[in-house]
Amino acid sequence: MSLPLHIGFIMDGNGRWAQGKGLPRKMGHEAGAKALEKIIDHCRTIGIQCATFYAFSTENWSRPKEEVDALMSLLDRYIAELHRKISSGEADVYKDVQIRFVGDLSVFSEERYSRIRELENLTDKPHSRLRINIAINYGGRNEIVSAVNRFIAENPGRPLTEKDISLRLYTEGCSDPDLIIRTAGEMRLSNFLIWQSAYAEYYSSPVYWPDFTPKELDIALEAFSKRTRKFGNVAK
Ligand code: FPP
Repeated sequence: MSLPLHIGFIMDGNGRWAQGKGLPRKMGHEAGAKALEKIIDHCRTIGIQCATFYAFSTENWSRPKEEVDALMSLLDRYIAELHRKISSGEADVYKDVQIRFVGDLSVFSEERYSRIRELENLTDKPHSRLRINIAINYGGRNEIVSAVNRFIAENPGRPLTEKDISLRLYTEGCSDPDLIIRTAGEMRLSNFLIWQSAYAEYYSSPVYWPDFTPKELDIALEAFSKRTRKFGNVAK
């Protein structure tokens, strides 16, 4: 079975999962974080090279303050928990996993920013088995604008190429995603990896993210392996 090298995950449906159980929406995000760890573990086990998870978009700030606060509190606890697990070597799930937080991190407090960088540094080994990108305050358009601005500052007057942009994206070091998976039956990209996913296969899973188990990922991978990828060419 041919596996994607890089998978992008749009983790949708946390709110509906919680509401369906009569729970507050934030409980859906808590359950979503647990699902995330199982999926990371599975990606590592089956040999995926890179996985990018959409955790918080540049547009998510417009949600009710209570929900934004709950997500930021979850993020802080998630970072602290990962730091503890990785530095103690307690969990195999993060062994040889390189972690990156991608997005415009300049909006976060100095404290949160330095905890993020500390965690990343802790996982910065040259021969990592899996790289994961957790997208926070991430927007695809914002990412492209930031890459272009960096290019202009570094190369005044030189015409821009596609490679110039690709080399300056937050996901630099990962190949373009081969597969984008969105849960909760939705069919939108929602500003996620819009440059990188130009030739990605898209898969919509009907289950809500907290119910997206490794078995559901295997179903998506099976569907991916049956796709014919043409990259603008004819089928061979
Ligand atoms: C979209 O579902 C999901 C989010 C905006 C948050 C995703 C976060 C996680 C999966 C937890 C991991 C998070 C961190 C910070 C590490 P939704 O709430 O829009 O679902 P709905 O469409 O059913 O309302």
